[in-house]
Amino acid sequence: VLLQEKGFQIEVYDRDEPIQRKLLEQKIVHADGLICLLSDNIDKSLINRAGNLKIIANYAAGFNNIDIAYAASRGIVVSNTPDILTAATADLAWSLLLSVSKRIVESDRFTRAGEFRGWGPMLFLGGDVTRKTLGIIGAGRIGQAVAQRAAGFEMQIVYHDTRPLPEFEKKTGARYCSIQQLFSESDFISIHCPLNNSTHHLINSANIYQIKKGAYLINTARGQVVEEKALVDALKSGHLAGAGLDVYEFEPQISPEIKSLEQVILLPHIGSATFETRSEMARIAARNVISVIESGKALTPINT
Ligand code: DGY
Repeated sequence: VLLQEKGFQIEVYDRDEPIQRKLLEQKIVHADGLICLLSDNIDKSLINRAGNLKIIANYAAGFNNIDIAYAASRGIVVSNTPDILTAATADLAWSLLLSVSKRIVESDRFTRAGEFRGWGPMLFLGGDVTRKTLGIIGAGRIGQAVAQRAAGFEMQIVYHDTRPLPEFEKKTGARYCSIQQLFSESDFISIHCPLNNSTHHLINSANIYQIKKGAYLINTARGQVVEEKALVDALKSGHLAGAGLDVYEFEPQISPEIKSLEQVILLPHIGSATFETRSEMARIAARNVISVIESGKALTPINT
């Protein structure tokens, strides 16, 4: 609507599936602006086809799907939708953390299947959350929001990032530590770092067993931060007690092995999926396009 009001000529492709590459390659040739999804791969070869493109507005906070350096070298602004999805994604990380440790999904399946035949002292024992240690990998906006929500559970917070964050520490009592320390101290690890060359397979077969035995892993960031095969092994061996996943290494493909594990909760990348957040994301993406076309500047740029 915002773009229509400004008289833009708009072409909209399916909202729930990524646009076919061939079609995108044709459409990009004459477009002045592109609003894309995190599942659209905006690489060098696609950018090279663009004759008029001035802005790539990603409908997401993460932007690992776009070659931002190359776009910048071609004078194309790239923008994202930061801030507005922080609360929704942090809430979802907590939903996974609580659900996996309290075995909510397994218990629901069991109850629906008519298998509940009376209270039992050993029925669906899970893990405590209160006063446990929460490890945050990547203390950006979402990581910090997840840590803030831990206060009600009296949790200790440790975090790892590219640098210590004194303000965050003051606010939450979080302690900065190396990734190895975070692995060995955390009862719950929640991933919130961006995907880039240094975070790809940050958790892998060589280090996953450094994670404290019985810990839970939550990933609402990007699947490729965790080597899925290593995760499957650590879960199957019982080293990890469970995992709550919203993202996958080979998204949207998920290994059959991971699907077969009861102690894992699998969601279809819905971190920001609330009515309010998704509408606001659409508004910001559209406003970024308008702003770049009208003034050359984005409201939430990444690469300038
Ligand atoms: C993002 O915006 O990067 C999230 O992954 C969407 O859920």
